[in-house]
Amino acid sequence: MGELIGVLSGKGGTGKTSVCAAVASALAQFGERVLCIDCDVGLRNLDIALGMSDVAALSFDDVCSGSYSLLQAAKHPIYAPLQFLTAPMNCPPEQIDIEAFGQMLAQARKHFSYIFLDAPAGLEAGFHLAARFADRILLVTGSDPAAIRDASRAAEVLELMGKTNVRLVVNRVNEKMFSKMKLTVDDIMDQAGIPLLGLVPEDHNVVLAAAFKKPLLFQTRKGAAAACSRIAKRLQGMNEKIRL
Ligand SMILES: Nc1ncnc2c1ncn2[C@@H]1O[C@H](COP(=O)(O)OP(=O)(O)O)[C@@H](O)[C@H]1O
Ligand SMILES: [Mg+2]
Repeated sequence: MGELIGVLSGKGGTGKTSVCAAVASALAQFGERVLCIDCDVGLRNLDIALGMSDVAALSFDDVCSGSYSLLQAAKHPIYAPLQFLTAPMNCPPEQIDIEAFGQMLAQARKHFSYIFLDAPAGLEAGFHLAARFADRILLVTGSDPAAIRDASRAAEVLELMGKTNVRLVVNRVNEKMFSKMKLTVDDIMDQAGIPLLGLVPEDHNVVLAAAFKKPLLFQTRKGAAAACSRIAKRLQGMNEKIRL
C-alpha cells in the first residue's frame, strides 16, 4: 500500500511546491512509483516545478468525476515512474467532492508507492484537502524564528485534525546566516517543537530549473537537489544524517 504525503505550510512561498517536486522526482529516480497531485486549485504550479509545463495533464477532478482513470495521469517525460495530476482551474476547494477525492486516493495507494499532495497557502479548505487523508505531513518552512513559529501554529491545526506524523523541512537555509546567528539544527528543532526531516539550502538552481522548464534534479545534483534526495531517502526509511 502506498503512502500519502501532504506537503503543507500554512504560509505562502515557503517552497512547498519546489520541495514536493524535487523529493518526488528523487523517489522516482530511485525507481519508486510516484503520483504527484497539485491541490493548489486556482494557483496551480506543480507542473512547472516538475518540468511538466509542456505536458498535457489531467486534473484530479477529471479522475474524481470518473471521466478518466487514474492510470491516465500524465507521465513524466524524464522520470518514467512519476505521474502527475494537476489541480482543476474552475473548482473552488470548498466545492471539491471530498468523498470522491478520498476514493481516488484509496485507488492511488494500490498503484503508487508514494502519493504527494501539494497544498496551497493558508489554513483553509485546500490545507484540509491535502492533510485530511495524508499518512505523513511535510511542513515546509523558512529558517527564521517567525517562519518556524508559523510552522508550529500549522502543526497545532494538524494536531486538532488528529495528524501526528508531522515532520519539518526547513527550506532556503543560508549557511552563512546560520553561522552568524549561531543557529544549530538542535535550536531549530527546539523552536519548532516538531521533529526535523531535512534542511534545504537557498539555491539559485531552484529558480533556474523552473525558468528552463526542467526538474531541479535534472538541472543539478548539488545543493537543494542533493538535500531533497536525502529527504527522499529518509522517507524510504534510510538513516541519512541531517545536514546542509
Ligand atoms: N531552496 C530554494 N532556493 C531558492 N529559491 C527557492 C527555494 N525554494 C523555493 N524557492 C523559490 O521560492 C519561490 C516560492 O517557492 P514555491 O515552491 O512556489 O513555494 P510555495 O509552494 O510554498 O508557495 C519560487 O520562486 C521558488 O523558485
Ligand atoms: Mg505552491
